Amino acid sequence: MNITGTGSAHPSLTVTNEMLADFLDTSDEWIVTRTGIKQRQIISNERLEDLAATAADNALTDAGIKASELDFIICSNVVNEYITPSMSCIIQGKIGAECPCIDINGACAGFIYALDMANSFFQSKSEINTILIVCAEEPTRMVDWQQRNTCVLFGDGAGAVVLTRGNDFKAVKLTSISKSEALYQMRKLESTPFISKDEPDGPLVMKGQDVFKLAVAASLKDIECVVRESGNTYDDVDHYLLHQANIRIIETIRNYINQSEEKFPHNIENYGNTSSASIPILLDELNRNKQLKCGDTLVLSAFGAGFTAGACLFKWSKN
Ligand code: UT7
Repeated sequence: MNITGTGSAHPSLTVTNEMLADFLDTSDEWIVTRTGIKQRQIISNERLEDLAATAADNALTDAGIKASELDFIICSNVVNEYITPSMSCIIQGKIGAECPCIDINGACAGFIYALDMANSFFQSKSEINTILIVCAEEPTRMVDWQQRNTCVLFGDGAGAVVLTRGNDFKAVKLTSISKSEALYQMRKLESTPFISKDEPDGPLVMKGQDVFKLAVAASLKDIECVVRESGNTYDDVDHYLLHQANIRIIETIRNYINQSEEKFPHNIENYGNTSSASIPILLDELNRNKQLKCGDTLVLSAFGAGFTAGACLFKWSKN
């Protein structure tokens, strides 16, 4: 499996740390020091499905193909305004594709899970030659905007890749540990005349330090596994694209495997944590800025609610 196109899209509204400090007991200094985030793009008048379709269109243009050539669409999404139908079906209509579609909810690690699924489709379905993955997320609609420990962390956006058959995808490792109490949100469903249980309904709940520790431990294991399984060393990897959740998590992982700062590109300062969209958005930025060379080795690694985590290693063969 090879990546032949990347794309992304962001909401138009920029919200700086100073803007948050106007209505929250927080400061630019706290947010930058503890997270690395300076600003984020937040949905105001946009719809997530439109951002998703724009990211998809941009990836198709980069790949030089038409939507009608797609054989499958996978959308990674945690929450959006539609309970049903799936976001991938909505994207299909907006971009003018005709192929089968499915959504997955792998939380912030969704992109790695989607890549592994796409790779399996190429191996098991001879009729599939081109797959679109779109990661479209609006985590700013999950948090309580009075809770400073969660709302300052997130931003909205969409990232997409076009995949074709090839040998660039070298190794993948997925990890899931049932630990919902560390990071979850529960919402009330429609009532029925038969419901007699209490149903929690509220914003995202996060035990930040627990997630931090789980993230570092799982990411280090996943990264070690894909580097070893592909017959590489940490030094052989040119770029480590880590989930953009906290610059301190990225730095802790980088220090542990003793690699240079240049190998860990980041854009968390501009976008905050955009859940599963964060890695494809970063990948698109590097691709468009010509920071990836043909033959480069990339490791992607992400973690999120579940607790889920995953890493993969692939070669970049696009010019
Ligand atoms: O995609 C997965 C999503 N989640 C994550 O990746 C989260 C991983 N965890 C983290 O990134 C960090 O744990 C946080 C950024 C969430 C928090 O940083 P921390 O260094 O673990 O801070 P803390 O939770 O230990 O809080 C330290 C202090 C507390 O005050 P007291 O009790 O020491 O007086 C908090 O109330 O910082 C306070 N605090 C804030 N202060 C100003 C928490 N949030 C804020 C804030 N502004 N926004």
